[in-house]
Amino acid sequence: MRKVTLIPGDGIGPEIVGAAVKVLEAARAPIEWEIADAGISAVKKGKPALSDEVLDSIRKNGVCLKGPTETPVISGHRSVNVALRQELGLYANLRPVKSIKGIKTRYERIDLVVVRENTEDLYAGIEHKIGNVAAESVKLITAEASSRIAKFAFEYARKEGRKKVTAVHKANIMKLSDGLFLECARKVAADYPDIVYEEVIIDNMCMQLVRNPEKYDVLLCPNLYGDIISDLCAGLVGGLGVVPGANVGDGVAVFEAVHGSAPDIAGKNVANPTAMILSAAMMLKYMGEGKKGERIEKALYEALEAGENLTPDLGGKATTDEFCESVIKRLETVV
Ligand code: NAI
Repeated sequence: MRKVTLIPGDGIGPEIVGAAVKVLEAARAPIEWEIADAGISAVKKGKPALSDEVLDSIRKNGVCLKGPTETPVISGHRSVNVALRQELGLYANLRPVKSIKGIKTRYERIDLVVVRENTEDLYAGIEHKIGNVAAESVKLITAEASSRIAKFAFEYARKEGRKKVTAVHKANIMKLSDGLFLECARKVAADYPDIVYEEVIIDNMCMQLVRNPEKYDVLLCPNLYGDIISDLCAGLVGGLGVVPGANVGDGVAVFEAVHGSAPDIAGKNVANPTAMILSAAMMLKYMGEGKKGERIEKALYEALEAGENLTPDLGGKATTDEFCESVIKRLETVV
């Protein structure tokens, strides 16, 4: 048994995390949960949105499965996600985006991975007001973080047998900050002659992605572009309910869906747990339980392909629990 920190999170978090935990249990994943409160649900219990206790639990266990946490707009506490990623040095955000049989979209053969720098850029949280007339946010890009994420993207590409890395930027306008990001990416790319390297400007990238997403393999992005593009890519394969993610650092990783706490559907038992279940499968692979992770993916994909008990975001009428039961039922038969 290995201890893993479990953050149920806010909004739909407890519903989809609950479903993922049931699937992991059904797959006999050797996990003992250490439950931790973060986000609005922690604040409501009189705790900080992200306490040292939670950070220590993740540091100690090295692995965390996290539900989405809500971040108040304009005022209120700082984003738990941003703080978590910075505090734990989770510098790489990995989001595999893949067409899924049974989910009808305009495209059929998408298989790309967004690799997003996770610790700096406009998310560094360095901003101030100038009286009531202006506000300034600092876009922090460092050579160290840029080279680190570029190396991660190329290593990932090599390990996973992927052929191409595309750096996404706006260095035509932000010549210094995005320029530095590109310079670092180019230097790292030179060490990987077996992998094709190209660069695309972010606005063009958005257009290319909705026209020919099949062309792309690994997208190497600074923080903000990576965040936006991840949702765009999720939309290409069926929506936010189906794309998993991992935040990876040195010896520590937090697995979570790309989507947020979806307050509009929270508490209704209609959220799609697919992204969360796929994040849990990624977590198992990271923990060296690849076979169990693959079994879970197989059961999930089979249930989706059969169109069994789909949730409303995929055109069905089933509840979160009903879809989860379909996956668990299929787990018994997949090898
Ligand atoms: P969101 O991702 O929560 O929702 C966007 C839309 O997608 C909504 O219509 C929602 O119902 C739908 N959706 C999302 N996940 C779904 C699922 N599993 N099944 C079915 N439909 C789903 O984005 P929004 O509304 O911008 O953010 C809500 C809150 O979540 C904010 O406080 C935001 O800061 C937070 N957030 C947290 C993240 C995290 O913890 N990793 C990531 C993104 C946002």
